[in-house]
Amino acid sequence: MAKTVILDHPLIKHKVAIMRNKNTGTREFKAVAKEIAMLMCYEATRELAVEDVDIETPITTAHCQMLAGKKLAIVPILRAGLGMVDGILELIPSAKIGHIGLYRDEETLEPVEYFCKMPPDIGERDVFVVDPMLATGGSACDAIKMLKQRGAKNIKFLCLIAAPEGIKKLTETHPDVDIYCAALDDHLNEHGYIVPGLGDAGDRIFGTK
Ligand code: PRP
Ligand code: URA
Repeated sequence: MAKTVILDHPLIKHKVAIMRNKNTGTREFKAVAKEIAMLMCYEATRELAVEDVDIETPITTAHCQMLAGKKLAIVPILRAGLGMVDGILELIPSAKIGHIGLYRDEETLEPVEYFCKMPPDIGERDVFVVDPMLATGGSACDAIKMLKQRGAKNIKFLCLIAAPEGIKKLTETHPDVDIYCAALDDHLNEHGYIVPGLGDAGDRIFGTK
């Protein structure tokens, strides 16, 4: 059974509060999303495989460990997931990026797929699916289904704000996928928005509303 990790850290709490504020502008919102993603990446990479390597220091040989194998793929769910990619890339610049295009139909709240492009070796990589918002969980569940159909096995889901409804749906649909979130909120409103939430993440990152 996978785990759900709510990041309990003063820096993350502080930055989430900035993102929630309706007066935070696009530039700061984007910068803080990137910073939180970087902090979350530190925790979500805790179990990455390492291998022994001998390194010549200026003094002698040091027995060290470095990341093993094919490392990581980051898969943002478009559009808003793009706002979390650069923070993770700062820590793991060798990560490959896949893209999944999904939007939520405003009436049905069901995800609609419009794009999918993955690195060819996705099945050999640890995969971080990133999206700031886990609301009903429909988009995350579909994105992970698409990834599994393409051979991905070791998948984690990283979001900034989660609703209990989304956590429930994702853990029931994909019980092998660990979830990391910066904050767990109260509930969804009648329009499928997270309460208290931060509004529409895509619009706030890209300044489209
Ligand atoms: C938002 C968000 C998630 C989805 C979450 O995207 O970024 O992808 O909604 O909702 P769910 O858990 O109920 O599926 P949106 O569909 O607004 O698209 P956008 O990122 O292009 O704005
Ligand atoms: N998508 C968002 O961007 N915000 C929400 O609160 C729910 C879904």
